[in-house]
Amino acid sequence: MEGESGGPEMPLVCLTDFQALARELLSKSTRDFIEGGADESFTRDDNIAAFKKIRLRPRYLRDVSKVDPRTTIQGEEISAPVCIAPTGFHCLVWPDGEMSTARAAQAAGICYITSTFASCSLEDIVASAPKGLRWFQLYVQTDWQLNKQLIQRVESLGFKALVLTLDAPIPGNRRDDSRNQLDLKRNLMLKDLRSPEKGNPASDLRTSPLSASFCWNDLAWFRSITQLPIILKGILTKEDAELAVKHSVHGIIVSNHGGRQLDDVPASIDALTEVVAAVDGKIEVYLDGGVRNGNDVLKALALGAKCVFLGRPILWGLACKGEHGVEEVLNILKNEFYTAMALTGCRSVAEINQNLVQFSRL
Ligand SMILES: Cc1cc2nc3c(=O)[nH]c(=O)nc-3n(C[C@H](O)[C@H](O)[C@H](O)COP(=O)(O)O)c2cc1C
Repeated sequence: MEGESGGPEMPLVCLTDFQALARELLSKSTRDFIEGGADESFTRDDNIAAFKKIRLRPRYLRDVSKVDPRTTIQGEEISAPVCIAPTGFHCLVWPDGEMSTARAAQAAGICYITSTFASCSLEDIVASAPKGLRWFQLYVQTDWQLNKQLIQRVESLGFKALVLTLDAPIPGNRRDDSRNQLDLKRNLMLKDLRSPEKGNPASDLRTSPLSASFCWNDLAWFRSITQLPIILKGILTKEDAELAVKHSVHGIIVSNHGGRQLDDVPASIDALTEVVAAVDGKIEVYLDGGVRNGNDVLKALALGAKCVFLGRPILWGLACKGEHGVEEVLNILKNEFYTAMALTGCRSVAEINQNLVQFSRL
């Protein structure tokens, strides 16, 4: 392959290389949609900056000739604690969309959380990677019958957990999308949530609006209609973490939606400690937001996360090289995490603990 300069193309060796190439390849409105944060994008940027305030405390002479990065989430084994966060509209960046993402996740042996706003049908996603570990992310709809149908559909399709996103009762204010007059309903073939058919033209769009009235008491209803473990995505405080435990859910994803919903909330990695302390080992805690290299993964695990999820980096991989790009992104991160484990003296994820990190003074 030849690069623009006529010389051999430079290999992409880290996640930010993928980001830079994706920026060149995508249209302005798609690039802005992916990269965008809410309001001033303070929290989006803080998600990354906050990882940089944490230093590692390596331990040596511990025989790291064998390092095992495998772990489990909700009892299922994954090849490393690096999985795929739900993001919508993958067909915006690659023709095969979520089908490519699912194939890459299956090849990598990790979990892929499929979004309510997937641009491929759930049936096609499952058929493209039948052995992959998948969870389903639900934006709770105002139509409760539709919520029930969707949950029963994903349960029978073999999804292994139901992820309820809490931090989007209404859409965040993303300035670039407003400037670009981005209208996903108009630009995209959105699938009809009610039926397993493929995409419907926007004129035929029958998706019901998201529920802004969803609250804690509704969780009992979810538990009554599904056997799937329920994971709450978007918790940032000890108060809500305690309520999550009280309402018998099975896991929490500490997340601020990649800084796309409410601006000026803490970086995910900064909120993790208080949530982990409040949960006190009763349920699994995961994290997404700003994870960009293997050291970030190690830091999140040291502070109590069972695994991390990637949002934008998966879309960069998909935009650059489709399924193979997502696989490369995952492999880069898994290799970096392996290196981080070996160089800090951890032979298994069980050995990763809070003594491995310290917070640097500003
Ligand atoms: C383009 C885009 C679309 C997203 N769509 C969804 C979604 O459909 N459902 C959801 O719960 N979160 C969604 N998110 C949030 C991600 O799941 C995740 O919280 C966030 O991207 C993690 O931060 P990171 O991008 O820094 O890795 C989206 C994020 C982006 C960037």
